[in-house]
Amino acid sequence: MKEDILTKIPDIDYREAAPEIDDKEFDKVIRSRRSVRVYRDEPVPEEVIHKAVEHALLAPNSSNLQPWRFVWVKSPQKKKELVRACLGQSAARTAPELVVALARTKSWSKVQKEMIHVLKENDAPKGAFAYYEKIVPLAYGQGPFGLKGLIKKIVIFFRGLLKPTPRGPTSQADMRVWAHKSTALGCENFMLSIRAQGYDTCPMEGFDEVRVREVLGELGQEKGSEVCMIFSVGKRADNGIYGPQVRMKKEDFFIVI
Ligand SMILES: Cc1cc2nc3c(=O)[nH]c(=O)nc-3n(C[C@H](O)[C@H](O)[C@H](O)COP(=O)(O)O)c2cc1C
Repeated sequence: MKEDILTKIPDIDYREAAPEIDDKEFDKVIRSRRSVRVYRDEPVPEEVIHKAVEHALLAPNSSNLQPWRFVWVKSPQKKKELVRACLGQSAARTAPELVVALARTKSWSKVQKEMIHVLKENDAPKGAFAYYEKIVPLAYGQGPFGLKGLIKKIVIFFRGLLKPTPRGPTSQADMRVWAHKSTALGCENFMLSIRAQGYDTCPMEGFDEVRVREVLGELGQEKGSEVCMIFSVGKRADNGIYGPQVRMKKEDFFIVI
């Protein structure tokens, strides 16, 4: 059945035209995004963060199960604590705003139900229902104590001997990779959006996750939820970027076979 859903082109009327894009402006956004470690003492308009989060939420994500959450830490007291949890690093300390990106391994089943609801409202093709009703629970459910994942691993191994077979996720560790992958794409959208709006960011993984979770309260205690990265947001200070952008040779990372 999966092969049908994946390979059969559905008979649908929906059309979406690709708009013209100014690729020079896009190139400018990409090339001017830098990790900023010192910010000007200047506020960031609320709309800038809201727009960036909206852009983050438009990132491609696995099975459209949106395993992310973006928490804007606005409360001055919590922000102070978060700076401390970010080891007091200047990128956090001098920043007007801080946003935490959470990757969630267990929120998929709620979104799955919401997706089925949306599909019903939109009179979606049968294949889409089958995907969310049958394939999604099979693919992402790991069962109590990961037992379902273990059984899947064995079945996948034998099936894989005969034909191309998706190999995972079959464990909580796989689910963590799964959630962080999509969340990181949202993170990149967030940073590029901030840059496109004339502001700057620094993504951070230099933090004490236990303390960050404490700052987030209930949100930080959600089972299966992990801190993917934390962003500082603001306007770069004159000394905010520590040097020219360094990347190794393209040939080292890009291979055509
Ligand atoms: C996941 C991740 C974690 C990072 N953590 C930190 C951090 O804790 N502190 C920091 O100053 N920069 C951090 N950075 C920024 C990187 O050091 C930076 O992206 C890299 O040096 C390249 O520089 P550029 O972003 O200006 O191109 C992080 C970047 C990523 C993607």
